[in-house]
Formats: sequence, C-alpha cells, structure tokens
Amino acid sequence: MTSAFGDRIMARADALAEFSEYNDKLCRRYLTPEHRAAITVLSEWMESAGMEVHIDAAANCIGRYEAAEPDAPAVLVGSHIDTVRDAGRYDGMLGILCAIECVDALHATNTRLDHAIEVVAFGDEEGVRFKATLLGSSAIAGTFDPDWLQREDEDGITLQAALDAFELDSTDINDARRAAEDVAAFVEVHIEQGPVLENEGLALGVVTAIAGASRFNITVTGEAGHAGTVPMGLRHDALAAGAEMVLEIERLCTELDTVGTVGQIAASPGAVNVINGQCQFSLDIRAGNNAVRQRTVADLWARLQTIAGRRGVKVSIALTHDFDACECDAGLMAQLTEALERGGHPLKQLPSGAGHDAMAMAALTPVAMLFVRCERGISHHPDEHMTAEDAEAATAVLLDFLQHYQPSQA
Ligand code: HGY
Ligand code: MN
Ligand code: MN
Repeated sequence: MTSAFGDRIMARADALAEFSEYNDKLCRRYLTPEHRAAITVLSEWMESAGMEVHIDAAANCIGRYEAAEPDAPAVLVGSHIDTVRDAGRYDGMLGILCAIECVDALHATNTRLDHAIEVVAFGDEEGVRFKATLLGSSAIAGTFDPDWLQREDEDGITLQAALDAFELDSTDINDARRAAEDVAAFVEVHIEQGPVLENEGLALGVVTAIAGASRFNITVTGEAGHAGTVPMGLRHDALAAGAEMVLEIERLCTELDTVGTVGQIAASPGAVNVINGQCQFSLDIRAGNNAVRQRTVADLWARLQTIAGRRGVKVSIALTHDFDACECDAGLMAQLTEALERGGHPLKQLPSGAGHDAMAMAALTPVAMLFVRCERGISHHPDEHMTAEDAEAATAVLLDFLQHYQPSQA
C-alpha cells in the first residue's frame, strides 16, 4: 500500500539530500551554506503546514503550531538536520519530516490540540564540524558549554565566528534556551540504525534508553627517524604504538561488552621513508550503563599508558564529549505504546546504542523516541534505506500520540 505521508517524506528526504557539501556524497555540516539552504526549504514546508517559523540563536529551525489556547506549553517533536560525512538521507531528517506531516494533517482539518506542537530541526547533533555534539539541542536545553564557542573547525573557524556569519538575529547562544514551563515533552522519531526491528519483522519500536558516550582525542608522541637507518629495537614509532593501542581498545571493549570505535587516525610527518613521530586518533566509547562506560575508560587509559611505557612513547588523552546514558520517560513511553496498539502494531521496546538529541533534551523535559526499521540496520552510510510504508506508519503513530497526549501528572 503506497502512502500519502510516506511518499512525501521519502521525496522530501531526497530533496534535502541535494543540499550537500559534495557532489558525490551527502555531508551537511552545521552552519554551512548547505545547512542554510536546507532550513530555508524546511521553513517553507513548515509554513505551508500552518506553522510560525523562526531560526533560534543556535541556528535550530523551529516551526510552532499553536494550541487551541494560545501560549500553551508545546510538545517538541523533531530531530537533527546535520549529517555525518558520506551519510544516509534519513538519519535525523526522518524525525523532522514525520513531524511536519503530523502538523500538516492537523492543519488540513483545522484541528487544534490542548498543547502546541513545535517541530525542531536541530542544527548540529553529529558534531562533525566542531567536534562537540548535540550543540543545537544543548542550547535549547540550557546545557550549552560556552567553551564550545571557541572550538575550531578544520579551517580554523571558531563556532562563535560561524554563528556570527550565519546571520542569526541573536548569536547570544543563551537566547536559544527554552523555559521548562513552556515545553511539555520532547518526542523524536528516528531510524533504528541497527538490525533489531528488521530481524523481528517489525516496523516500529519504543526506545527504553539511549546509551551514554565518551569521546576523546588521543595523541601518541614518539620519535621521528629515517626509515632506513634506525634499527627496529631503537625506534619509538608513534604510529606502531597507536596501532597497538587501537587493537587494545578493540580487545578491552570486547571483554567488557561495551563498544569502542577509533573513527579517525592520522600520523605525522606521514612520509613513506620516515618513522612517524606523532599519531593522533579519535576514540568513541559507549555503554548503556554509566558505571560500565566509566570503568571501560579507566581500564583503557591504564592499558594505553602501559603500551606507551613499553614502547618509550608518550600518550595524552583529551575528552571532547561526555554524555551519560539517558532513560526515556515511562509516561511518554506508555503513551507511545498505546499509540502503537491503536495503530495495530505489535509492541516492541528496545535500547538505542546510537546517541540522539533526546539525550540533551532530557535535561529540559521528559523525552521519548520512536524507532523505525531501516534496511539491514545500515546507517551513517549512503546505503541507509527505509520504506515509504514504514515512514507512513511512524507518522500515523506519532500523529495519534500527539492527538491523545496527556501531560504526566507527576
Ligand atoms: O554518533 C551517534 O551515535 C549519533 O549518530 N550522532
Ligand atoms: Mn547519526
Ligand atoms: Mn541521528
């Protein structure tokens, strides 16, 4: 069965994928011209769905659909508009497009609810440009770290300079902060980015918790030397030491049943006939349990220092991101589950190994997430794929949830 919501969501995801910094792959980083082009089109879609649109001081694009009574607290729905490098076109975008379809359906029947709805396209969740993630949602939640403003991108442009250049009404990032009493809840629809729903033949699932993540930059400093003249036993090869450390990360995370990823590595001077004097690599450690994640980091640091000592190199570690695991709100999960039931979907709950804006929004308001099946669980990759039917199903459940939503009595 083709679908009204679903077909348009897929077409709009294709349209947004055109706004990329490359011709041959999708990459849309925070505060780039491509970010601006994407939120310009999003604003048009939000306005035609009956929303008042503004771009906040953190370059989040926000459309508001008023309640029956003006100035009622809002349920925020949405996800992020930025992407990783060589990305898929549904990670983030799906949550924004489903939310717009819900408001469009309410607007088409001139339905007003007891609560307002605000559709949010967060400007930066992936952290690709400035190596600090959840920037947009942290600004809204009031947890933005002002030190992040001095973070530089690969061209040496600071986040503050990029905000100034983005022609925002206000670059006082604190103006993006929302008052708790104005926000009733945050709900995010997102592709699962894993294989569980597809393996169980399910389209949708309610998220129980979001894994915590710690990210680091690690620098190994050895001694550069001539590739032909320095005997192996006298070398302090930073790249060889780094390589042993990467394998140790893999070994320890396997032992402790957490996940550890080295996504970026670089060696210098990086010449074919020179022993590298320096090696730098990223590290991303995640676990559903905060104590397990913290223990993994502590054990790992001890092991990296042991390797460095044995090889006569120095190792340093800089924390770039640290977010505790986030429990989804039980009341919202129950209401999402009721919406699944009313939609005739089997009930399924599952944790998220990936990070999401909901983690940051949890500092401001109760949060919940609805996961949508994606093909073979592939994500952060151009082969990321989903179906119009599943987009349709997710939108119908989100709309039903919004129409029945009751603030928690707590
Ligand atoms: O890295 C993550 O988990 C998310 O996709 N930003
Ligand atoms: Mn992502
Ligand atoms: Mn995402």
